[in-house]
Amino acid sequence: MVNLGFSIGDLHFKNPVLTASGTFGNGSEFDDFLDVSRLGGIVLKGTTLEPREGNHYPRMAETPSGMLNSVGLQNKGIDYFEKSIYPRIINYETNVIMNINGSYIEDYIALAERINKLEKIQAIELNISCPNVKMGGMAFGTNLQSAMEVTREVRSVYSGKLIVKLSPNVTNIVDFARVVEDEGADCVSLINTLLGMAIDVGNMKPSLSTVTGGLSGPAIKPVALRMVWQVANAVKIPVIGIGGIMSASDALEFLLAGACAVQIGTASFIDPQASVKILDGIENFLVKNGFSDIKEIVGYINRNN
Ligand SMILES: Cc1cc2nc3c(=O)[nH]c(=O)nc-3n(C[C@H](O)[C@H](O)[C@H](O)COP(=O)(O)O)c2cc1C
Repeated sequence: MVNLGFSIGDLHFKNPVLTASGTFGNGSEFDDFLDVSRLGGIVLKGTTLEPREGNHYPRMAETPSGMLNSVGLQNKGIDYFEKSIYPRIINYETNVIMNINGSYIEDYIALAERINKLEKIQAIELNISCPNVKMGGMAFGTNLQSAMEVTREVRSVYSGKLIVKLSPNVTNIVDFARVVEDEGADCVSLINTLLGMAIDVGNMKPSLSTVTGGLSGPAIKPVALRMVWQVANAVKIPVIGIGGIMSASDALEFLLAGACAVQIGTASFIDPQASVKILDGIENFLVKNGFSDIKEIVGYINRNN
């Protein structure tokens, strides 16, 4: 028997495989493919205060070893979530994390206050890659001051576990990890998508209606792994690794670099069972190599190099 669990403070997760926001719907979309309750946790699709239409089509494009998206946080808002989605997820025997997004700090605060009352939601993942209207559209997560403020304000009203999801579109991601830790984040998850673009040469137009969009998939894995390693060596709070994880071997790289858990994103579009296959693969690796607890391999390269 191998212990696969990890904790964020006093919140226990039975294993280190979670799903990444925006790539796993609200879980129930995957019920036909896997037992969602086997996962360590699920991070729900990004939710905003008001419904959002998202960006115009085309808003997805394939690129070598990756994909670009500019979905634009399309969702039906928190009222719809509470009424129609929440009742569908309360029976999952896994931790459920809400990913929240806003244009103003007040949006994040209002959402956090609402989520406080939802017993089944054990944690919030703060998506700070959203454009901050008051800062002229610069993302909260690319400005230290606004990353700090939004974390502080949400922390002051939210009593569950607070995960801050970091943007890779910055010069030094470690600075961001440190300030959100100082402001009371219980955990950081990284990375969100990398800003990219593609052009359709045939019709001489950008491939996305928004011109630029977020790059995800295997193409971003080496960058994500580097950032996770840097952050895990700089903060004391747990780190969740995200970015291009397609296999158990990819997930193990993140754990060896210092992440205590991983989120599976784009891989679920290619194989809806990717998350549970990765979970099985991690367990097999530990058994085969004689480890009894996943903690023995978390950050292994930092102790044995
Ligand atoms: C279609 C799509 C929608 C996404 N929506 C969100 C979102 O709502 N909130 C968020 O924090 N991240 C969102 N992400 C980012 C992913 O959660 C993840 O951080 C990123 O895709 C990198 O992981 P991957 O390479 O495994 O996909 C989205 C990604 C994709 C591809």
